[in-house]
Amino acid sequence: MKKFYIETFGCQMNVHDSEKVIGTLVGRGYSQVETPDEADLLLYNTCSIRDKAEQKVFNRLVEIKKRSRDKVVGVLGCVAQQEGEKIFERAPHVSLVAGSASYNRLPEMLVQIETGHRRVTGLSLETEDTFEVPFTRRDNPHKAFLTIIEGCDKSCAYCVVPMTRGPERSRTSASVLDEARRLAAEGYTEITLLGQNVNSYRDPSPAGLDFAQLLRRIGQVDGLRRVRFTTSHPRDFVKDIIDAIDENPILCNHIHLPVQSGSTSILSRMQRLYTREEYLRRINWMKNARRDIAITSDIIVGFPGETDADFEQTLRLLEEVRYDSIFSFKYSQRPNTPALQYEDHLTEEEKSRRLTIVQERQRQIQLERNANYVGAIEEVHIDGYNRATRQWLGKTSQHKQVCFTHPMLPEPASGGATLEGTYLPVRITRSGPVSLAGEAAVLPN
Ligand code: 5AD
Ligand code: SF4
Repeated sequence: MKKFYIETFGCQMNVHDSEKVIGTLVGRGYSQVETPDEADLLLYNTCSIRDKAEQKVFNRLVEIKKRSRDKVVGVLGCVAQQEGEKIFERAPHVSLVAGSASYNRLPEMLVQIETGHRRVTGLSLETEDTFEVPFTRRDNPHKAFLTIIEGCDKSCAYCVVPMTRGPERSRTSASVLDEARRLAAEGYTEITLLGQNVNSYRDPSPAGLDFAQLLRRIGQVDGLRRVRFTTSHPRDFVKDIIDAIDENPILCNHIHLPVQSGSTSILSRMQRLYTREEYLRRINWMKNARRDIAITSDIIVGFPGETDADFEQTLRLLEEVRYDSIFSFKYSQRPNTPALQYEDHLTEEEKSRRLTIVQERQRQIQLERNANYVGAIEEVHIDGYNRATRQWLGKTSQHKQVCFTHPMLPEPASGGATLEGTYLPVRITRSGPVSLAGEAAVLPN
């Protein structure tokens, strides 16, 4: 039996790609093992979004060098696509380098390795295919990812993704809906639709659904209780998406709409294709929705040329939108991206200073926002139990983390009774900057 070990770095798309890679390998007689030592094949599905993420991958490759003498080592994902054959030079113990646009050819590439090829690559980005597999390994039995669109056609000046994941390819709505129905039939109740830019989804079949139409259809699938999606690009975000969320409570009231900067001049240098005002118009749609929609974002500080006044605009935007949470990053120089050529790069110290200011300001906003939930009853989809704090954990439709106690089931019962995967109303009694705490309001039925 051929045994493989896989480690995944990076975003949810990578996590889900790995699930599909695992399904592909298991379908061909491989079995997955939990440690590199047990494996014949070591796979690393990698991320290159920032320099630190990429360094982590190369550190891992150095670490495993000695232990991988009789093993095949493969590098998949964004570092593979970005660095290509250079990886063989930096890490000669690697024999497979393949980007996500080539995963359909993985079985073939593995056969090449088995038949003695020392170095095999899958680096072409010229594809119209999506990576759809007959079997996907999913570890969580309640929540599933579902890809609707791959690749990215934007060209943000700081970003490697258009180069690492290739051009946009949408799946047919029939195939997406089939998978959603299959997942529901298997007992999944929450699904997250994935794509680098889900808003530019365009059904390639004659049905021709756009993203909001697809969302409405998925919201009708029997058995699903929550549908999420990520990630959205403001330029392609239309009001119809909010209308769809307003119409159907199955569609979660949470939108992740990365703004990156609050300054129109920086947005233009970033090639984001919208102004501060256009972005805020979309935020207004959300704020005027019938449902209370949680809004989250990504922020980059210290983009080349970001002045104090530009940075101030970002802080002002945080105050204006009052996000439920944000991911914030220092700008990181990436190979082959237009921003590398820009002048006026900021020092690390200045970027760190700005990052701290953003994070402190946002922490305060979250503290204030979350305090509004105290006293409310929120439906929580339960993820598990934390033995250290003796609390159950889960998420609201708005994707807020809730820790709570349960008077009748203080911990998972030894006989197996557990709340994992169920939905429960929880009375919120306390709040902090990143989570809410409370007590289950009733027993599950
Ligand atoms: N430097 C810093 N952050 C980046 N991101 C993407 N590229 C870079 C970069 N070069 C951030 C963006 C994006 C998120 C996934 O990562 O905020 O939305
Ligand atoms: Fe990292 Fe971006 Fe690739 Fe995801 S798509 S793995 S975030 S570089």
